[in-house]
Amino acid sequence: MNSCVNAEVFMDIKKQIDKTKVPQHIAIIMDGNGRWAQKQDQERLFGHSFGVDAVKNTVKAAREAGVRYLTLYAFSTENWQRPKAEVDGLMELMVNTIIRELPELMEQEIRIHGIGNLEALPKDCKEELYHAIETTKDNKNLNLILALNYSSKWELTEAVKSISKKVKAGELTSEEITETTISEHLNTAPFPDPELLIRTSGELRLSNYLLWQCSYAELYFTDVLWPDFSEEDLFKAILDYQQRERRFGKISAQITNTL
Ligand code: FPP
Repeated sequence: MNSCVNAEVFMDIKKQIDKTKVPQHIAIIMDGNGRWAQKQDQERLFGHSFGVDAVKNTVKAAREAGVRYLTLYAFSTENWQRPKAEVDGLMELMVNTIIRELPELMEQEIRIHGIGNLEALPKDCKEELYHAIETTKDNKNLNLILALNYSSKWELTEAVKSISKKVKAGELTSEEITETTISEHLNTAPFPDPELLIRTSGELRLSNYLLWQCSYAELYFTDVLWPDFSEEDLFKAILDYQQRERRFGKISAQITNTL
């Protein structure tokens, strides 16, 4: 396909999106950087650095589509087990990307948030992240949530600890604990639950990511490796989501009012 036809197909996909049914929160597991690099006989870090371009394309597409919250799984609590050179390289990439992109984030009115065990990140990474969170705090456009040193099991364990402390201190009784209490003690308390979860690279797993919050998310898996994930790929995922019927435990006739 020549580039002119490609551009037409892209515009067509974008036009098909129903602006009234765009998910307000999309969560992404950005997978496949290592395989993308290996396919080109390159080091894994080469894939991660091209992954940053995919992040930028995705943020642009999310803004254009009218998404309000975009959560990206940038580093899991399990990722520390990777070879030290890869972990160090990833941390350096995060620091450099945050520093480099901050002016653009301000220009685009994008607000940065962090979820995960941020205190345990290397000092420079933590400082740049906190600086970006503080600097962008009044931005009113897309909320870009970076899951860094994050896992659901870690987050839920912390929530249980914090709730039990309140019970022990007499601020709460165990009978008063509801689903809302738990949601309010998660790192994601300020954000609505994701309606759409995307994972790239053909892997069919949730990998300890937003397990509570994605209880009713629509799951979308694509074989595209993360560095190749384009604006068009995000629009395709949104279109796929818009074709689904979200029943939340009810039956179809209740949703379509044809009972
Ligand atoms: C998974 O691919 C990817 C990661 C663990 C890191 C993702 C991080 C980035 C794209 C950098 C983002 C930077 C910012 C500031 C948001 P993998 O390494 O598991 O790939 P593989 O499964 O092919 O080995």
